[in-house]
Amino acid sequence: MKSSRHGHVVSLPRPAPPPFDAVGASPIDPLALYAGGIDTSDYVAGVGGALRRLIPSVGDLLDLGAGGGQLGAALRQQGRRWTAVEPSASMRDRLARLDPAPEIVAAGWENASVAPADTVLAANMPAPLTEPASFLARCRNLARRRVVWVVPAQNGPRGLCLAGCLPREWHGEDETPGVDIVMAGLAPADRTPVTAEIGWTFSLIVSDLPRLAAYLAGRLGWPEADPRRPVLFNHLAAQARPEQGVLRLSVPRRSAILIWSLT
Ligand SMILES: C[S@@+](CC[C@H](N)C(=O)[O-])C[C@H]1O[C@@H](n2cnc3c(N)ncnc32)[C@H](O)[C@@H]1O
Repeated sequence: MKSSRHGHVVSLPRPAPPPFDAVGASPIDPLALYAGGIDTSDYVAGVGGALRRLIPSVGDLLDLGAGGGQLGAALRQQGRRWTAVEPSASMRDRLARLDPAPEIVAAGWENASVAPADTVLAANMPAPLTEPASFLARCRNLARRRVVWVVPAQNGPRGLCLAGCLPREWHGEDETPGVDIVMAGLAPADRTPVTAEIGWTFSLIVSDLPRLAAYLAGRLGWPEADPRRPVLFNHLAAQARPEQGVLRLSVPRRSAILIWSLT
């Protein structure tokens, strides 16, 4: 890694990460699957690149719902604090393996005991959609200079991370762009214009497609004997692109960037 002119950390090319499901027959952790997909997607390049251009000086960074920390790692400013609030133990394990690792707070945003930071980031986490007003109030309390939310903006599913590979009648999700739900949940005085919308591709490297198909069928609530299970496997197999002995499944996504400047 090296530092850019602004002190951001610029990632140098790294060897391809292993597929998310390379090890064992343990149940698939949905957050691990998502974070593994982020490792092999252009999310950090697209959304992180846009954020770096929009926020030349991040200062101390507080990342609420940091997940695997890929976005925080791209945004953190050398010599400034980088704190990750993360309730999931598997995501905290990933965060702890980063070099350098952030300060990790094992809590949700609701009760995390953290110091204010210049930039408070919440990217692709549930609270902006489920309780935007109270979450924004909490973010504002914790932010010295700005609050930054990255929220889904695609016309399509946004719950199950591979739902975009499936027909609507299977996933049954609401397809309203998440950003519209966020705005509708905020009082007019609390809304901020969408600063940017970035298209990217959630792209997952899969070494065991039958296992992934069984996982998705389980998440859809299909019983073991459901006759759609082999159809689901074939549906995924038809979309998967072979790549060096593994398969790649891709879903187009779109993210809206919302920024509240406090200074
Ligand atoms: C889809 S991941 C996004 C991770 C990361 N921010 C990114 O953009 O790649 C959502 C994250 O929000 C976290 N999360 C869920 N509920 C939370 C809460 N109440 N407080 C903080 N984080 C939460 C999850 O554990 C998960 O790591």
